[in-house]
Amino acid sequence: MKKIAIIGGGNLGTAIAEGLLKSKFSKASEITVTRRNTSVNPLKPLGIDITSDNNAAVKRSDVVILAVKPFQTVELLKTIKKDLSPGKILLSVVTGVTLHEIETAIDKKVSLFRAMPNTAISIQQSMTCLCHQHAKYEDVKYVEELFNKLGKVVFIDEKLMEAATILGACGTAYAMRYIRANIQGGIEIGFDAATASLIAAQTVKGAAELLLVKKSHPEQEIDKVTTPKGCTIAGLNEMEHRGFSSSLIRGIVASYQKIAKD
Ligand SMILES: NC(=O)c1ccc[n+]([C@@H]2O[C@H](COP(=O)([O-])OP(=O)(O)OC[C@H]3O[C@@H](n4cnc5c(N)ncnc54)[C@H](OP(=O)(O)O)[C@@H]3O)[C@@H](O)[C@H]2O)c1
Repeated sequence: MKKIAIIGGGNLGTAIAEGLLKSKFSKASEITVTRRNTSVNPLKPLGIDITSDNNAAVKRSDVVILAVKPFQTVELLKTIKKDLSPGKILLSVVTGVTLHEIETAIDKKVSLFRAMPNTAISIQQSMTCLCHQHAKYEDVKYVEELFNKLGKVVFIDEKLMEAATILGACGTAYAMRYIRANIQGGIEIGFDAATASLIAAQTVKGAAELLLVKKSHPEQEIDKVTTPKGCTIAGLNEMEHRGFSSSLIRGIVASYQKIAKD
């Protein structure tokens, strides 16, 4: 079992630690989490202590997961680089900091990974996009297994990391808006808010599962629920006349243009 240091025990760092414990990928004694303010530790009930000693955490670990804010990353890497001995895995979940920038900051070659998960990682249902450089085959397999415990994994070219941020991470917000609109519609046709929320969320979850389990195309599943002259096709066509698909595609492209520009 590899020892893991999570540098930056904030929202994402904590969610990763929780997921690794709950999935039994790691034991509490194998995980060290760091942050500067150690008085805040939501992981204490799970038996994980938080330390502010990044160097000691890196030294005792085989895998270092970096989960600080983008602007903190390079400075932090410079303070831990002496402890990143060959053979360790360095994995960054920091948005927008490239593998090249990380390697320049540490000034050495280690098995290096970037991951783009989403907030569903807190319930082990993340979609995580991964890329790597100078990584050994067994390290790639290890990191794949780690994130498989926290949801689903796909390996991509690093040049697609911004696109992954939009579709995979911002995608959670787009899906929430879609569900919220369903709830609003559901209330207008007679449900109380709680019942409408349950029906909308479970229906969207079931629809997504149909695609993931059956590996079918959305249109195949739509064909199964659209009776000729029926209510489903009437509603769907009205949504399309109002620009449903077009507005989603344009929203995704607008988000991408924004991330590419910044
Ligand atoms: N949240 C998401 O869904 C998500 C998804 C994909 C990627 N990301 C990326 O993940 C990173 C973390 O996001 P987040 O939402 O978890 O942010 P966050 O809640 O602000 O967590 C950052 C953590 O880093 C700690 N920290 C800062 N400087 C440190 C240092 N020198 N040594 C040790 N710990 C330090 C902070 O605690 P102290 O201030 O106490 O030190 C804080 O707990 C970001 O780069 C973000 O872009 C987030």
